[in-house]
Amino acid sequence: MTDRAHVRALLAGRREGYSLAREFYTAPEMHELDIEAVFSNEWIFACNVAEIPHEGDYITLSIGETSVVVVRGKSGAVGAFFNTCRHRGSLICTQAAGHAKRLVCPYHQWVYELDGTLKSARQMPADFDRSAHGLRPVHVETICGMVYICIADTPPDIARFKAAVTPYIAPHHPERSKVAFSMTIVEDANWKLVIENNRECYHCIGSHPELLATLIEFALPDDPRANRDFQLLMQEKTALWDSLDLPHLPADGGTEFRCIRLPFHRGAVSFTADGRPACNKLLGDFTERDLGSVRMFRVPNNWNHFLSDHIIHFRVLPISATQTALKTTWLVHEDAVEGVDYDIDTLIEVWRATNAQDATLVEHNQRGVNSKAYTPGPYAPSEFMLTNFTNWYAQKLDDYLKPAPGREKTIRLAVAQG
Ligand code: FES
Ligand SMILES: [Fe+2]
Repeated sequence: MTDRAHVRALLAGRREGYSLAREFYTAPEMHELDIEAVFSNEWIFACNVAEIPHEGDYITLSIGETSVVVVRGKSGAVGAFFNTCRHRGSLICTQAAGHAKRLVCPYHQWVYELDGTLKSARQMPADFDRSAHGLRPVHVETICGMVYICIADTPPDIARFKAAVTPYIAPHHPERSKVAFSMTIVEDANWKLVIENNRECYHCIGSHPELLATLIEFALPDDPRANRDFQLLMQEKTALWDSLDLPHLPADGGTEFRCIRLPFHRGAVSFTADGRPACNKLLGDFTERDLGSVRMFRVPNNWNHFLSDHIIHFRVLPISATQTALKTTWLVHEDAVEGVDYDIDTLIEVWRATNAQDATLVEHNQRGVNSKAYTPGPYAPSEFMLTNFTNWYAQKLDDYLKPAPGREKTIRLAVAQG
C-alpha cells in the first residue's frame, strides 16, 4: 500500500461523528501532510491591521517551514511576502514583529522596498535584473482589518466568507482598534485537538468557572439544552439588536465558518470576572453596551469574539504533530487609554485563565490519544461543530490526495502504521 493510499484508507475508514484515528493527531508525517494539504492551501488568519499600525511595521508567522512577513506598506496598504531572500534564501525578517523602513536581508544586505520590489543588491553586476528578484508575494485578504493570507498559488474562495461575516463584525470596527495585549502560548497538543476543544463547550462546566460567569454555553439560539430563561433572554436581546440593525442569527457557513451573536448571562456585558465593562470606551460608534458577543470561527486557525468594548482574536499555528502555538490578541478602541479606560488585568483575566485551563485539557487529551488504548470516540450532540470540523478536514485531505493529472504530490508518510 502506498503512503497516499494509506491515508486515503484511514479517511475511508473514518466514522462520521467520531474523533479521528490516532495517527491524525500524533504522526509527524501527518503534521507534514496537514501543513501541505491544509495550512498551505487555505486562508490563514495572520493578524489585525492594528498590529502593524504604521508604515514599515511587520509581523512574521510560520506555516510549517515557510515564513511569511505581513507588512504595512506605503499609503497604508497591507502586503504579505514569503520571508525568503531572492539571493540565497535567507530569512529576511527574523523577529516575530518589528519595524523597518525597508526590508534588509541580514545575510548580504539586499534591500527590498515595503512592496517587495528589490531596491538594491550590492556588488551584483551592472546587468543584474533587479525587477526579476522581488520578494514573492503571498495572497492577502483584509476583512474589516483582519488580515488573512494564503500561500497557495491559487487560493480557495474567500468572497463568500467575507460577504457573510462582514455585516456582523463591521459595526465593531476591528480596523479602528489598537492592541491592548497579546500573548502566545505553546500547547502540547496537535492543532486539531486545540480546534476541537474550542469548538465545544461540553467541557466548560468542568473547567472554566471564570468563563462561565459571563458566557452562556449554548451555541445556538434554539439550543436543545436551553431552558425558558435562555429563550426569554434571547427574545429580549434579539429585539434590542434588531433595533440597532445588528445581525445575530447564525450565518450559513457550512463546515467552513461560523458567525453568530449570542448574549452573555443576564446583567453581564463583557468578558470580565464580574461581567462589568472591560473598557469604558466602546468600539466603533456604539452607544449600547449590551451587545453580547459575535462569535466568529473560520477553519483552520481562527476564532474570535467581538464585544461592545473589546475584540479578541485567537490564532492557531501548528508547530509539530503534538505542539501548537496559540496567539491571543485583545483589542480595544484605538483611542482608549490604558489606566483610564481599561486595565489590562481586568481585560485579559478571563481568557488568560481559560486559555491556561484549555491548554491543560488538550495536553491531557493528547497524552490519552497517544496511548495504544485510544480508539476514536463519539461526539456528543452538543459537539456538532466537531463533526463539522472533522468532516471539513477529511474532505480537505481527500481533495488534496485525489490523483490530479500532471500534478505530483510529495507525501512523506514513511512508515504509516495502522
Ligand atoms: S541571502 Fe539575502 S542577501 Fe544573500
Ligand atoms: Fe475551553
